[in-house]
Amino acid sequence: MPVPLSGVSDMVRYFLLTFAAFSMLLLPSAFRGGSVAHSGANYPTLEKLGEELFHDTNLSMNRTMACSTCHTQANGFTDIRESEKIGHAVSLGDDGTSLGDRNAPTTAYAKFSPPFGKNEMGEYVGGQFWDGRASTLEDQAGGPPLNPAEMGMSDKASVVKRLKENPDYASAFGTQFGADVFQNDETAFAAMGKALAAFERSDALSTFDSKYDRFLRGEEKLTDQEELGRVLMSSSQFTNCNTCHTIQGTHGLSDGVFTNHKYFNIGVPANRDVRTVNGSKPDAVDLGLAQNPAVSGDPAQRGKFKVPSLRNIAVTGPYMHNGVFKDLRTVVLFYVKYKSKKPSRQINPETGKAWDVPEVPENIAMTELTSAPALDDKRVDAIVAFLKTLTDRRYEPLLSKDENIGEGTEQLTVHSISVAPENAGK
Ligand code: HEC
Ligand code: HEC
Repeated sequence: MPVPLSGVSDMVRYFLLTFAAFSMLLLPSAFRGGSVAHSGANYPTLEKLGEELFHDTNLSMNRTMACSTCHTQANGFTDIRESEKIGHAVSLGDDGTSLGDRNAPTTAYAKFSPPFGKNEMGEYVGGQFWDGRASTLEDQAGGPPLNPAEMGMSDKASVVKRLKENPDYASAFGTQFGADVFQNDETAFAAMGKALAAFERSDALSTFDSKYDRFLRGEEKLTDQEELGRVLMSSSQFTNCNTCHTIQGTHGLSDGVFTNHKYFNIGVPANRDVRTVNGSKPDAVDLGLAQNPAVSGDPAQRGKFKVPSLRNIAVTGPYMHNGVFKDLRTVVLFYVKYKSKKPSRQINPETGKAWDVPEVPENIAMTELTSAPALDDKRVDAIVAFLKTLTDRRYEPLLSKDENIGEGTEQLTVHSISVAPENAGK
């Protein structure tokens, strides 16, 4: 759990954060024990090597930051470090001062995003990052070490130099990629990306063992409320969620990750608190997909962001590309505002004021956002309850006590909507 750090000076806060991150990283290797010196036997597979790299702070300039600093396994592979005023909406970099502008997404289930490109309809799909600017996990992994606001290394050669410092890496890289892998910095850097991606593609990151998965396998029952949420999320008549957060995977429901991997502008407001703190220019606008170099500024892509997976969503807040909403229920209510005529639905429950205007007013997916009736409270709660069942087993303890799945839920009838999941949304 993050230490409450408000009121502590910046230096002390930074020290505590780095120390906390560092000690967390140090412990596992200290306990690994019985290491075979420099044989690479510690990382017998590409996945294991990638896992080690993922946790290695030596890949950052000041040796304070690893991938896992911002993608902490114990917290759904997201960043839980708190910054004053903005919580963990965006990430603090290795330099201890740079704050990003986007929320760190989970790397779990990220492997299901296909390489970035266009589908047969000419729509952009797939890729990594909120704007898809890295096509694959292999491409993505090369980004953070060289990003000045993240791990801050000056170039590929200096990253490779850090890799060479570790004799275990020398041996493991040799085994995986051939003895001459370190002779060329480009090749070595790319090899590091491949190892990191192999870890991210491993089953350890996509466990499919949430209550929902257990329900699909007939091992567990959903409460009536969760079941109502599931039915709603499966339908295209009662909600529009399924249009974008597709319940079906490639092989049916069992590998569904709740995204069609496409890009939409759903009218998310700017996170003004973040912009105040991170030193953005007053006229800063996150154009999303239009900022992806492969899209070369196409105005029709302004404001569009990748539809995120909803797996582990209840434990990976705050929400949206900029972390502007804290509660899951707020996100669901945000969608209700588009269709509801009720004045109460035009209020953001987190601010008590009217929903802030979209950051990018063009290209809003109004057709999709208004294609289903407004949800009433009962249905909003049911969807939230269902979304909680998408929490992997190891993260279930993170659901707070009053949020525990299947506990204390009121009995709701689902008879009014009887849609078989397999036929829903067709
Ligand atoms: C300083 C914090 C930070 C560090 C360190 C960091 N990341 Fe990230 N990561 C982010 C943020 C923020 C984003 C979203 C950025 C964006 O969309 O522009 C992101 C996005 C990603 C994504 C895309 C996920 C998706 O669904 O689109 C992957 C994969 C990823 N990071 C893996 C890594 C790996 C591997 C490393 C180490 C080499 C790493 N990250 C280091 C903060 C960090
Ligand atoms: C038109 C496509 C579309 C529809 C319809 C849609 N979503 Fe989304 N959803 C998105 C996109 C795109 C984002 C990310 C937007 C951003 O960050 O700017 C998102 C974000 C979210 C998030 C936050 C994810 C995160 O990681 O921060 C949740 C939760 C969510 N949607 C749930 C729902 C639910 C529930 C419904 C139905 C009531 C729904 N969505 C309908 C496209 C859609």
